[in-house]
Amino acid sequence: MELNGNNSENKQFITDERQVIASLRSQFMPEETLTTPSGEVRYFQTIKKPLLAKAGHCQVLGVATDITDRKRAEEKIQKALEKEKELRELKSRFVSMTSHEFRTPLTTILGSAELLKYYSHNWTEEKKQKYLNRIYNTLKDMTLMLEDILFIGQGESGRLEFNPEPLNLTEFCRGLVEELQIATPNHERITFQVPSPGTVGNRLMFDEKLLRQILSNLLSNALKYSEDDTQIDFYLNWDNEGAIFLVRDRGIGIPQFDLEHLFKSFHRGQNVGLIPGTGLGLAIVKNAVELHGGKTEIDSQVGEGTTVKIAIPLPKTK
Ligand SMILES: Nc1ncnc2c1ncn2[C@@H]1O[C@H](COP(=O)(O)OP(=O)(O)OP(=O)(O)O)[C@@H](O)[C@H]1O
Ligand SMILES: [Mg+2]
Repeated sequence: MELNGNNSENKQFITDERQVIASLRSQFMPEETLTTPSGEVRYFQTIKKPLLAKAGHCQVLGVATDITDRKRAEEKIQKALEKEKELRELKSRFVSMTSHEFRTPLTTILGSAELLKYYSHNWTEEKKQKYLNRIYNTLKDMTLMLEDILFIGQGESGRLEFNPEPLNLTEFCRGLVEELQIATPNHERITFQVPSPGTVGNRLMFDEKLLRQILSNLLSNALKYSEDDTQIDFYLNWDNEGAIFLVRDRGIGIPQFDLEHLFKSFHRGQNVGLIPGTGLGLAIVKNAVELHGGKTEIDSQVGEGTTVKIAIPLPKTK
C-alpha cells in the first residue's frame, strides 16, 4: 500500500522520532494516522525503538500495526450507541408528553360521556349539546396532536411529501394571519408587514401545506407564549436570494439551556408553566423548512421575547 502522509502527519512523525532519539527510549504510539495518495485515512498503532548504529548515530526502528478496520468498527459502534441514546431520550420524552397531554383530554371526554350517559335524560337539549360539543372539540384537538406525531414520524423516516409550486406569498400570509386572528380571543394582535404590494418573483416555490405548518406553528407559539395585550410582528420580505419570514413576540422568552434542544420532538422549555403544548411544533417547522432547502434561526431573551427567522432560498435552476 502506498502511504505518503500529509504535511501535518509527516511533521508529527518527525517530532515523535526525534523524541525517541533524544530520550533513547522506546515509545508506544496508540494511534497514528497516515493519508494514502487517494485521500483515505488509515490508522496505525506503532512501537518506535531507538537503534544505536555506531557511536553518535541513532536510528529509529518502527513496527506499525494497521488498526484501521478496528477503528472503523469502533466508530460504527459509537454511532449506533449515540443513535440508541437519542431514541431512548425520544421515547422518554414521548411517554412523558403523551401521559401528560393525552390524559387531560381523555379525562374530559370520559367525564362528559359519563354525565351524558347517566343524567342527560333530565337535561335540556341545550345542555346536552354543550357536553357533546365539549367531546367533539376535545377529540378534534387530539386528532391534531396525533396528526403532528404522524408528521414527525414521516419526516424522520424521509417519507414526507414535498410538492413546491409558485405561490402568491402576500395573499397566502395575509389569509393565514386573518384565520389566526379570528381564532384568538384578543383579535388584531398580529401586525403583518410586507415591503410592497404585489407578487413575489415567480421563481419562489413553496409547498403550500408545509408553509402553512411552518407559519402557523410560529405564529401560534408567538401568540401563546406572550400576554394577550402584547403585539406580534410578522414580517415578510424577499430579494434575489429568496424569501425571509420573521415572527417577533414580546413574551416569556426561551431559557438558554432550552435553545439548543428546541427542534427535538417533544422538548418543551423549562419556563412554559401551565401553557399547553406537545413540543412538536418547532420540530415540524425544522423538517418543513429543510425540505425547502431553508434555515431556521431563533433569537430569544427570557422575559423579553422571541424572534424566529426563516430563510427560504430560491430553488436551484437546473
Ligand atoms: N415564541 C416563543 N416564546 C417562548 N417560548 C417558545 C416560543 N416558541 C417556542 N418556545 C419554546 O419552545 C418549545 C418548543 O416549541 P414547540 O412549538 O415545538 O412546542 P410547543 O409549543 O410546546 O407545543 P406544540 O407542539 O403544541 O407546538 C416550547 O415548549 C417553548 O418552551
Ligand atoms: Mg408550538
